[in-house]
Amino acid sequence: MQSITEIKSLRSQIKAWRQAGLSVALVPTMGNLHRGHFSLVEKAKTMADKVVVSIFVNPMQFGANEDLDNYPRTLNADKQGLAELDTDIVFTPSVDTIYPNGLGEQSFVDVPGVSMGYCGGTRPGHFKGVATVVTKLFNLVQPDYACFGEKDFQQLQVIKTMVRDLSIPVEVVGVPTMREVSGLAMSSRNGYLSADQKATATALFTTLNACAEQLKAGNTDYKALQQSAKQSLEQAGLKPDYFEIAQRDTLKAATLDDTQFVILAAAYLGSVRLIDNLQVVI
Ligand code: PAF
Repeated sequence: MQSITEIKSLRSQIKAWRQAGLSVALVPTMGNLHRGHFSLVEKAKTMADKVVVSIFVNPMQFGANEDLDNYPRTLNADKQGLAELDTDIVFTPSVDTIYPNGLGEQSFVDVPGVSMGYCGGTRPGHFKGVATVVTKLFNLVQPDYACFGEKDFQQLQVIKTMVRDLSIPVEVVGVPTMREVSGLAMSSRNGYLSADQKATATALFTTLNACAEQLKAGNTDYKALQQSAKQSLEQAGLKPDYFEIAQRDTLKAATLDDTQFVILAAAYLGSVRLIDNLQVVI
């Protein structure tokens, strides 16, 4: 596995692969890799000849009061895991490499519509930061494929929309969420939780499943379902941020005509904000 930090070296290796007629897949990450990330790498390996994994904790997608400084950074362990999977390149640029002129006057990519509400509502500017850094990574690597986890379902839809709207020549591949045996979705932020909190956090998945069962049973009172789900989360010791039944592909509020849904949820456990979702087709 090549470990690359500079854009020039990255571009020159990608160019050599291209000249040899090889296809390339990109897995963008912020590091602190777990089995969820490794499943993205495994998927990428099935799709392309060469796999690039980027590790970059992107300051542009963190709000002023968020966990940028404390975000878990485990570069050595990450590299070891990626080498074991025979990743071709791990790209770990510095903040100066990605934003050489600082963030003050950085051009940005904004994806209206799907960025609004849910995490976009609670974290203003977050998806602008995600869309901008992912565009930069797409321009640097020029991959044929890019793999993202379905755990960040709104992020996945933002990136798919951006690629469509801006005619970026990459196929965006969504990879199903990896879960602990308890059902808890794997996330770098789970590392902030104690064992007891992890047990409490499983209520997010249990509540999503209970709502999905109601939808499958024909319950169309979405408002009541959302309300009762929030109450269940509170009873379990979580503080709900949002719990919404949406149209799967547009993320607009579900209507009575819909058959393809995604239930999107976010809740706080202490200061840790957890997100999860469940797709439902009836
Ligand atoms: O999902 C993430 O880890 C990040 O939002 C991403 C896509 C790597 C962009 O920084």
